[in-house]
This record gives sequence, C-alpha cells and structure tokens, in this order.
Amino acid sequence: MSAGPPKGSVGRVLVAASELEARVAELGAAITADYRDRSLLMVGVLKGAFVFMSDLAQAIDLPVEIDFMAVSSYGKSTKSSGVVRIVKDLETDIRDRHVLLVEDIVDSRLTLRYLTELLQARRPASFGVCALLVREGAPTDGIDYAGFAVGPDWVVGYGLDVGERHRSLPDVCAYDPDLPPVGQDGGRGP
Ligand code: IMP
Ligand code: MG
Repeated sequence: MSAGPPKGSVGRVLVAASELEARVAELGAAITADYRDRSLLMVGVLKGAFVFMSDLAQAIDLPVEIDFMAVSSYGKSTKSSGVVRIVKDLETDIRDRHVLLVEDIVDSRLTLRYLTELLQARRPASFGVCALLVREGAPTDGIDYAGFAVGPDWVVGYGLDVGERHRSLPDVCAYDPDLPPVGQDGGRGP
C-alpha cells in the first residue's frame, strides 16, 4: 500500500498537554492505590500507547514491570480492516501475573476484545484495562480506567497517528482530512 501524498491537516486541540498531564497523574494515583499489594505488569499496546504508557508508568508510585504488544487493525488507513493481527507478542509469561493493559484509544472495541480474550486465555492472576481515550458512545464495560471521552473525529498526537504521522505532537488534536496539508508538519508548524 502506498502512503501517497499527505491529505488533510491537524485541526483543533481536543485535549491539551496540561490536561493530559493532570489526568495521567489522577489515573496513576488510582492505579497506585488499587495495586498497592500486587506486583503490577503493565502491557502497552504499540504503537499508539507508547507516550501514554511512559507517562503513566512514571505516575504510578509502585515498582511496575512493563512489556509491549503490537497489533494492527487499521494499517495506514483510518478505517478498521475488521481483523486484528499480532505484530509483536509479549516477552513476559503473564500466567499468575497482575496485568494492566494500556491502550491509546478504544473505538469499535475490536482490538480490546481481541486482546482481552487472548491475554485472559494465558491465565493472569488479574486483568485490568486502562485506556487514555474512549470514543463517545462506545460501551465502557471492561475498561477499568479511562482518561477522556472523544467525539467521532479521528485524533492524532500524544502517540496517536494518521498513517504514522503526528505521533509526537504533545496535545491530542482532531485530524481534519478536508483541510489542505500545510508543509511537513501537516499544519502544526511554528
Ligand atoms: P478499535 O479496535 O476500533 O477499538 O480501535 C482501536 C485502535 O485503533 C486503537 O488502539 C488505535 O490504535 C486505533 N485508532 C482508533 N481510532 C483512532 C483515532 O482516532 N486516531 C488514531 N488511532 C485510532
Ligand atoms: Mg492502538
């Protein structure tokens, strides 16, 4: 699949870096309280969760272990293929471990459902889910910690991408496919 020339631009800020920082601190405090007596293994879902995972791990006042999985359901497009594929599996044996899955965004729940079934079949001692963003209208059952609800716009920044672009933006922004592309940064330059 060819990436082609970039279409669209980064639009308005939906969740500013300062709000992300404050919410991540709250989530970290809640997780710290809940896992005080359990040794926690955080499992980040690459690539989108890499920034959130890093900040969240530092906001948890416990000696956590971390591991990552990579899955793909969207490829380079903004439409789910409907099929989840493991791109990278865990290095850790999670049997009898207290696992907290860390996701960037839960949208159709396809990825979450797939990963929950896959990881629970490995018999962890407990299984929790923390998602930075949850699409408004998506059922929240099975999500133990959620950062923010977001509307229907595709979002980029703070780890999230469109066709591998804009992951390093510090804010969560709407991506507008109808805005003309502006330079390399998709309209978010100085
Ligand atoms: P789901 O399987 O539809 O719930 O989507 C989950 C995955 O799709 C997320 O972990 C993201 O990687 C990706 N995704 C869904 N919506 C967005 C978005 O608005 N921006 C960036 N990635 C998204
Ligand atoms: Mg993801």
